[in-house]
Amino acid sequence: MFKKMEKNNLNKIAIRLSKPPKGILAADESTNTITKRFDDINVPSNYENRRKYRELLFKTENLNSFISGVILYDETIRQSTSEGIPFGEYLNQQGIYPGIKVDTGAIQMTKESKEKITEGLDGLGKRLIEYKKMGAVFTKWRAIIDIEEDGAVPSDIAIDLNCSNLARYAKIVQENGMVPIVEPEVLMDGSHSIQKCFDVTSEVQKILFEKLIKNNVSLDGILLKPNMVISGKKAVSQASVSEVAEMTLKCLKKSVPNEVPGIVFLSGGQSNELATSHLNEMNKLDTSLPWNLSFSYGRALQQPCLASWKGEDKNILDSQNALFKRSKLNSSATVGKYSEDHENLKL
Ligand code: 13P
Repeated sequence: MFKKMEKNNLNKIAIRLSKPPKGILAADESTNTITKRFDDINVPSNYENRRKYRELLFKTENLNSFISGVILYDETIRQSTSEGIPFGEYLNQQGIYPGIKVDTGAIQMTKESKEKITEGLDGLGKRLIEYKKMGAVFTKWRAIIDIEEDGAVPSDIAIDLNCSNLARYAKIVQENGMVPIVEPEVLMDGSHSIQKCFDVTSEVQKILFEKLIKNNVSLDGILLKPNMVISGKKAVSQASVSEVAEMTLKCLKKSVPNEVPGIVFLSGGQSNELATSHLNEMNKLDTSLPWNLSFSYGRALQQPCLASWKGEDKNILDSQNALFKRSKLNSSATVGKYSEDHENLKL
């Protein structure tokens, strides 16, 4: 039996993580992914550069005014500040919850298939015990759902298996006393319409919640990290900010039970400004939503910061200012107070 006190504790953490005016910084890029980001700025992706970059992020002054939690990668949670304070401990000292990505990545579902399935259930319980000792209080698992114009992708089996794994993961995480972020990402690659994204996202979320309920996951102790309902990146006609906000809210209201404390969006390849505008519009449109509506952005928070850093110590302050700015603007968006003019303000 899931203990009542534990359940209340998870609910409190999930609320604190998603409660406006704060959101989550996703800094859990795998070594492969961060290497691609470093390649773009011509910085060698070695152990020390990755540590230095993460230290720069976490030491941004007053980050804790806008950021409630940071998602770390396995390598990062084992690293420390230059003074030797382990990152998990350092973040906790700043009043920022450390979280950890616990899936081990996505592989091709079958030899013939283009679709992917996320792995990482084996030994998960044991890994969680270790992460908890390192200070982590929440976790993340990302499933990827692709859309292809021919209608065959996503297949029912890809949705089913990915949602089953998400539900099993969430149950194991709660049993270990941590909050699972459940991330079913419908990709924005491709030329599909916003309506197609709406249909697929609705279907995925419907099946996901069926599985979570069947697995006895406490819905008041999770966070949902969904994609926004948006036109495919290559679609000729791009939906407006208000269309994205309306259709995303319509989809979430249809699928997400009221007990879920918070919804924290991924940015998924949107521009920094659009990711902020979309979140802002949703929070402006409906101020009586049953769940907190905030962000858990990776790229949309870090892009300008990485670009300013370029791997050089002399750029650290500029780079931190860039992270501070995007965090502050997204924080405003969680309360519907962002405006495009703020992009030009000196912060
Ligand atoms: P993006 O905001 O860059 O999509 O990253 C969020 C994330 O954590 C993906 O798993």
